[in-house]
Amino acid sequence: MKHITDTIHPFETLAKKDAEAELGGGEARIEAQHQKGKLTARERIALLLDEGSFEEIGKFVMHRCKDFGLDEQYYLGDSVVTGYGTINGRLVYVFSQDFTVFGGSLSEAHAEKVCRIMDLAMQNGAPVIGLNDSGGARIQEGVVSLAGYADIFYRNTLASGVVPQISAIMGPCAGGAVYSPAITDFIMMVENTSYMFVTGPNVVKTVTHEEVSSEELGGASAHGQKSGVSHISSPNEVQCIQDIKRLMSYIPQNCEEDAPSYPYEATDDELRVKLNDIVPESPNQPYDIRDIINGTVDDASFFEIHKDYAENIIVGFAHLAGKSIGIVANQPAMLAGCLDINASKKAARFVRFCDAFNIPLLVFVDVPGFLPGTDQEWNGIISNGAKLLYAFCEATVPRVTVITRKAYGGAYDVMNSKHIGADMNFAYPNAEIAVMGAKGAAEIIFRKEIQEASDPEAKLKEKEDDYNLKFANPYRAAHRGYIDEVIKPEETRIKLIRAFKMLENKVAKLPKKKHGNLPL
Ligand code: HXC
Repeated sequence: MKHITDTIHPFETLAKKDAEAELGGGEARIEAQHQKGKLTARERIALLLDEGSFEEIGKFVMHRCKDFGLDEQYYLGDSVVTGYGTINGRLVYVFSQDFTVFGGSLSEAHAEKVCRIMDLAMQNGAPVIGLNDSGGARIQEGVVSLAGYADIFYRNTLASGVVPQISAIMGPCAGGAVYSPAITDFIMMVENTSYMFVTGPNVVKTVTHEEVSSEELGGASAHGQKSGVSHISSPNEVQCIQDIKRLMSYIPQNCEEDAPSYPYEATDDELRVKLNDIVPESPNQPYDIRDIINGTVDDASFFEIHKDYAENIIVGFAHLAGKSIGIVANQPAMLAGCLDINASKKAARFVRFCDAFNIPLLVFVDVPGFLPGTDQEWNGIISNGAKLLYAFCEATVPRVTVITRKAYGGAYDVMNSKHIGADMNFAYPNAEIAVMGAKGAAEIIFRKEIQEASDPEAKLKEKEDDYNLKFANPYRAAHRGYIDEVIKPEETRIKLIRAFKMLENKVAKLPKKKHGNLPL
């Protein structure tokens, strides 16, 4: 590429260099990017940040490698645009990989630019948003590029739990490069134009003889539904960027601040009578827990995360009386709301994010237990279920539970019970808090008596009714103080607003330690 020399007026030189940098890899490559339905690195930043707020850092940085013809090909800024700006007036640091320059590949200079904004984000306590679109390590640079990746991974890890980190995948993200987004808090993907995998379709074919496309192997739906690597899928880049902005509205700048809150005035609509009709009378009939969530939180404020993965548990952010909360809820409409490996992992990671960033937790419980089966046992429901238990036990943010129906067995303990540190526990009048369902319980403890009865079926029914009478209600637990109050569903919102207000200044400390040993 031809170089601008300083034989002209200095202001003009600057203007030309600015224009050169802003053109990235040139018109033809920009056009090719658009043809693929993708925006350029700068267009993405312009959509993400408040108008005119972007301040670029390192606009004229260039790569240093001179091998394989790179001494004849220089681009101002190299293959990433970095800087800071605001989203709704709040500071964020951004890097946006420029696919038009060497396919957005990561050179030593590219890595240094990313590290610089990560360092600034840590020093100044603001989120880092990475817009990823890269062919991976700059092949011409060899190990220097690998070192650059490692420098980023290291910073991702140190920043974890200090400032929120959000990764949007808007093109290729392959090989070891995937591990930077993987360490961040949220991964968003764009359908059909983004993919993530450790080894691509060609390697897969060679090694396992499987024929699979990039989209099938590592597209937004593969990671949104199957692997759970991606938290939010969007149909296009514009929506993906809107989703990042929405996510930002629920989370704080750093681990020492609270999430932004919004003005709220109590209305005469705080009693939600519609909530009385959502939980079916029959304990085995499914319903959508989202109806309880949406009926409780501020209007249209529920923002679901990980929507298409492990649908037997629901997680997401919402506002309650203008304040940010994180919600974890069993979903009786899927697998009867059982906890399984994926649900436990999904919820555990969400709980840990909320706890790290001072977002109070609201937990809706309707859980018949852990999912039985060899598949679950052999794949480690024990250590994976323990992740959720551990995450709740360790969380020091305000924690409130509402048992809407079943809370059986170990899952009762795990789902933010009083015993593991929840602050306020409510139950609806029809809640059943027991070791297991009445029929199963009667069959076990009265097996002999039932077998020997003249009418075993009638005997089983009698024992089942007896167990139901004792445990198919919330009062045994309430007598012991495990449940603070039995409430009507219509009171859910008002009780929660008051409970979270009461817990606003909660201070809880964990024992001094280097770090715990979460069952990974
Ligand atoms: C240098 C690269 C590059 C790379 C692409 N380009 N990837 N240059 N290093 N890794 C350049 C191409 O030469 C091309 O230059 C331009 O970017 C666009 O690439 P195309 O191939 O034309 O684009 P497309 O057809 O869309 O294909 C995109 C792609 C493909 C699928 C990403 O480029 C590709 O497979 N690249 C190699 C991917 C790879 O193997 N990377 C290393 C992975 S290992 P021109 O001049 O023609 O525009 C890795 C390890 C990380 O990343 C380890 C961390 C620990």
